[in-house]
Amino acid sequence: MFGNTALFALALAPFAVAQISEGFEQGWNQTTWTTYAPDCNQGGKITLDTTTAHTGKNSIRVDGAGGYCGHIFVGTNKVPTGDVYVRTYFKAAKAFTDSHVTFITHPDPAQGANKHLRIGGQSKILMYNRESDDATLPDLSPQGIASTVSIPVNTWRCLEYHLGTDGSIETWFNGTAVSGLTAKPGVSNPNTAQWQRSSIKPKVTGVYFGWESYGGDTNTFWYDDIVVSDKKIGC
Ligand SMILES: *[C@@H]1O[C@H](CO)[C@@H](O)[C@H](O)[C@H]1NC(C)=O
Ligand SMILES: *[C@@H]1O[C@H](CO)[C@@H](O)[C@H](O)[C@H]1NC(C)=O
Repeated sequence: MFGNTALFALALAPFAVAQISEGFEQGWNQTTWTTYAPDCNQGGKITLDTTTAHTGKNSIRVDGAGGYCGHIFVGTNKVPTGDVYVRTYFKAAKAFTDSHVTFITHPDPAQGANKHLRIGGQSKILMYNRESDDATLPDLSPQGIASTVSIPVNTWRCLEYHLGTDGSIETWFNGTAVSGLTAKPGVSNPNTAQWQRSSIKPKVTGVYFGWESYGGDTNTFWYDDIVVSDKKIGC
């Protein structure tokens, strides 16, 4: 199922991508899966890893260096124009620290030029960060921190999320919905006050997997069995 990159364009909407599915078993196609490192690129590295995989033999490996310019990502701008669902398996070499890091980033013109919707870590937990105002989802209060998850080390885990056209965000980790990583307009969540102080509705133009740190943290991440769709995928 994951052997080839599959691009199924909708017949009636030629620019909408219905589904991308990639397991890197045919290698790393650098035309389809482009490198992304805005502003600067010093020390981060992407390779095809033929020694570890979620399924099959291959995965894509990102060795992220420390500091903003140590960032590097690999991904695609072929994202649906409406609802966006992304499902990936990932493995991290090191746990998150208290410092702010990103491992999935999305250019998001809804926030302004060169701004990103980011998924990463801070306070040792999984979170979202909106670059334009540095808001986090969830709030980094003790209750907010407890409403999300920490990521295990050296184990493949499934992460899926939904960016809705109404500005909603839903997240599933290992197949389970994470309350602190859920924000829906009009639905109260005691741990998302900072996120919901803005009415920006993310409208992402790509999804890129990698590493970016704002302190000195370095890490290695592996990604496999990535699906980008306009519908829920599941683990
Ligand atoms: C890479 O993907 C593109 C389409 O995205 C395709 O045209 C090309 O043949 C692929 N390259 C290889 C080496 O498979
Ligand atoms: C992941 O999900 C599986 C199946 O639901 C469950 O057995 C396992 O305990 C979960 N692991 C973690 C770390 O949540």
